[in-house]
Parts: sequence; structure tokens; C-alpha cells
Amino acid sequence: MAAILVIGSGLGGLLAAVRAADAGHRVVLVTKSVLPESNTRYAQGGIAAALFRDDSVDAHELDTLRAGAGLCDPAAVRVLCEEGPARVRDLIRFGVDFDRDESGVARGLEAAHSRSRVVHAGGDATGAAVEAALVATVRRRAAIDVQEHTMLVDLLVDDDGAVSGARVLGPDGVQRSLEADAVILATGGAGALFTHTTNPSVATGDGVAAAWRAGASVADLEFYQFHPTALAVPGTPLVSEAVRGEGAVLRNQLGERFMLAEHPDAELAPRDVVARAIARQMERQGGAPVLLDATALGRELLETRFPTITAACRAAKLDWAVQAIPVAPAAHYSMGGVETDAWARTTLPGLFAVGEVARTGAHGANRLASNSLLEAAVFADRAVRALGQPWPTGAFLPPMDPQADNETHWANRLHPLVEISTSSMHGLPSETAIGLPSGDPGTPIDRSTLRQLLWDFVGVHRSGAGLAHAAAALAEWTAPSATSVSVAALEDRNLLGLGRLLVAAALAREESRGAHYRSDFPHPRPELARSVSQAHSPSLELVPTQEAIAC
Ligand code: SIN
Repeated sequence: MAAILVIGSGLGGLLAAVRAADAGHRVVLVTKSVLPESNTRYAQGGIAAALFRDDSVDAHELDTLRAGAGLCDPAAVRVLCEEGPARVRDLIRFGVDFDRDESGVARGLEAAHSRSRVVHAGGDATGAAVEAALVATVRRRAAIDVQEHTMLVDLLVDDDGAVSGARVLGPDGVQRSLEADAVILATGGAGALFTHTTNPSVATGDGVAAAWRAGASVADLEFYQFHPTALAVPGTPLVSEAVRGEGAVLRNQLGERFMLAEHPDAELAPRDVVARAIARQMERQGGAPVLLDATALGRELLETRFPTITAACRAAKLDWAVQAIPVAPAAHYSMGGVETDAWARTTLPGLFAVGEVARTGAHGANRLASNSLLEAAVFADRAVRALGQPWPTGAFLPPMDPQADNETHWANRLHPLVEISTSSMHGLPSETAIGLPSGDPGTPIDRSTLRQLLWDFVGVHRSGAGLAHAAAALAEWTAPSATSVSVAALEDRNLLGLGRLLVAAALAREESRGAHYRSDFPHPRPELARSVSQAHSPSLELVPTQEAIAC
């Protein structure tokens, strides 16, 4: 029996905690807010998996690879699509009540899927249903010690370079150390980097920033997905892609369906294509949002299939059964994160990463709609199955699955990763330039200015000059101290560190691919169809002394 520390309470964290407890481990689950608060809770569209007779793992795999724009790790995609159906069935066993229709479990269509395969619950409240079922399951497990209002500050790394726990800030405002045999990081995304986001305010990139500071390799941070349709009102609530899947169309201010000229799949083109097309229309119309016209769907369908969006429209005094609603892109999902192998193992022994915090390679440069909850479930399950197994001696050795023929793949992949991460050929700035707090007194970070900076220069449309401006502005700020006992200050520290890494990665990638679009390099470059890893030696960073920490 091992002591497992799970950090985060979205699908990945909750499922990992349940699985680990059921495998006989002692589990401590810490979460920054209350247990049910997470990005998972706000997911609308659903979960994509090859569950139906007219579908196949191969078809799901192909759609995922296509959306990923040449940057997916095929082995990770295979695992995702192959194990996905079993994980959805697990969720049903844990009490998720997926919607049904006359044919059985109901399914929806979303962009870039070649067929309807997205299962949903509560109409457009899939995330809330998943979260509620898993929270109830966690609460029933006596072996899980839940610690709410407890924020990750830093990972603890022992003399051998293995992760041995975490320093956390508790609800009493005191930092303390939690020791563990293994840490499963499941802290979610970082939408708070941008002014406009569909994410809740807890999504401040704490896990990626802490893992990087501890020396874990991170990758693909330049690939940040902007959801095409957030309701253009304060709070930018999500308007699910499933609405377009049901037949809603996008119009500009003249009432024209502009997507028809953009892509053969029009409104159901891949997410990055639709987001960029909307951003271009908005520029043409002086920044005004475009319109999502769902009136043809009829009031009954809108209110029963999309109760969450209907409520958001009502709150904004909009009646989407009779009027087109204003929508605009908003930051939604990070494809990049802490680099893992197919067993959710990071480059630091003892540290697993699951869900949005991880970069498994399953999403490549652009995540396929409704693959995110699936990824969290599949890799949380795998992380627990890998507990207690010897850690690979290299950063990424072939996965343990004796059935999988991934050896050659991983061997091939490692070389380019190492090569690109140590090369300045593509302009990857040095460690100092990409965000190690210098210790010099500088300007204290201002979160709303940082978010606006990233929105303006690191958003849907990017350019080398804009990214360089953002990098210079970020370099001016000083990160708050790691010894702070303020959640907001510790979040700012993470946002600044992660923002610098993201900008560095975007500057380094001198091409356009998937969600990363640069006007100065508007096309993909085949020779850059590979991931960029960023890692640093923690010994270079200024870390607080143990004495400074109240344990
Ligand atoms: C949506 O419902 O459009 C979001 C689903 C996702 O991000 O995969």
C-alpha cells in the first residue's frame, strides 16, 4: 500500500483518487477550492468515444489525428481511442446518467468528427453530471482524505530527483509539506492567462508551473485552443459546439453565413479554423461579435438539449429561440502541459500528470472536440495502473504495455525532442529569458494587465513582433514569493511563469499549425511537425529555504 497525493478535483483527479483507493492505496486529495469546483464541471458538449455500432476506434483515431494537425503522438491517440469506450462505461458505473433517446444512449455531432459519437448528460451539462457522480464516489471512499481550499505551492523533489510530495497552502493560511510515494497532478488548465476564457477562475496553471519549476519537462505550450463560440457577455459562458452540431449557423453583422467560404465543413470545420474565421470577421466589423443563429432549431430543442446555454442567454436577457446571439472566441483549453508517456508518467520519477495539465500527445496542435474528458479518464486510469511499477530510467522509455508495439515509435520520437529542445535554431530563448524569477526587484505583476497582454498578443492571431513585445513586457515583472500565504499571489506567480513559457514556445515555433497561428509564418512547415520540450534545472531557480516555510 502506497501513499498517493492527488492534486486537483476535476475528472482526472477524482477518478485517479477513486481508482487508487480501490487498488488499496492511501490517498490524500487536495484541491484549491471546494471539491466539485474544476474545469470539468463546466464542460458542455460531452465525451467522444467509439461506443456505437456504426463507429470504430479507427475512425475516432483518424479524426483525432486529423484535428491534431500533424503533431499528435500516434501511440497516445491509439490508447485514447482504444481505451475510451471502457472508461465511459466506468463513468456509467460510477453513476453518470448519460442522456438517452429512442435508440438508447443519445449522441451528438461536433466539429471535425466524421460521425455522431459524443455522449452527453443533462443536455449540455455533461461536465457537471460527471463531476457530481465522481464527487459522490470519492465521498464514499474512506481511504480518500479530501483536503479542500488547499493549494499546490511547489512539488517536493528529493536528492535523487524524484518527486516525494508537495508543499501546499492550507485553508489556515499556512504552508506545509505533504509527503507521498507518488504524486498525481490533475490541476487542469490555465484559462486565467487570458482576458476572455470559458474556464473558471481556479484555472491558473498551477500544476504546469510547479512541475516546470521542479524540473519536469513541459511541451506544446504554444498550442492553446480558443473555443470559437463563447457568449459575448461578461463572463463569456461557453456555447457548446454541439449547438452547431445540431444545425446552428454563424453569421456576420450583415447576416451572411461567412463560414461557407472558409471551409468545406463550414460551421463544423476544426475548432481553430472556425475561431480564426470569427476573429477575422470581428476585425472587419470593428470588433463586434459575430452571431450564432440557432433559431431554426426551435425553442423546445434548445431548452431541453441545451438548458445551461438557455439559462446563460436568459441571464443576459437574450432569447435564442427567436434571435441570433452574439458570440466570440475565448481561451478554452491547453493542448500543451507536463510531458508524459502513455502511462501518464512525467520526466520526474514519482510524478504523474493527468487531464489538461498533461501533454500526453493525444491532442497534438488542436484538440478534437469532446476528447478532453475522455483523455482525463483514460490517463487517470493508466496512472493508477502504473503505480508501483519501476520508473523508466530514461525520460521516456517505451510504455509497459507488453501488447503495445511502441518501442520504435518512442525511440524515434526521443531524438527530435532532445534535438529541438537544446537547439537555438528555432529561437527558443534561454532559461533565464523564459521566466526564471531573477530575484531583482522589478514591477509587481498585475494580473489583469497580464491577461490583456496575452489576449492581445498571444491569442487567436499572433505575430513575431507581438510575441516579442509580450515576452519583453512579461520579463519586466517580478514573480511573487513562493513563501507567500496568499492564494492570489501564488496564482500570479504561476501565471507569470507559465505565460513566459507559453510566449517562449510561441516565439520558437516559426510556423502556423493547429491552434498556433502566426501572421509572419502563415503556413505549416513540415520540418517543424514535432513537439518542443522545455525544461530547466531547478537548481538554477531561486527557491525559498525550508526554514522560511511553516510546516
Ligand atoms: C463544447 O461543448 O463545445 C466544448 C467541448 C470541448 O471542449 O471538447
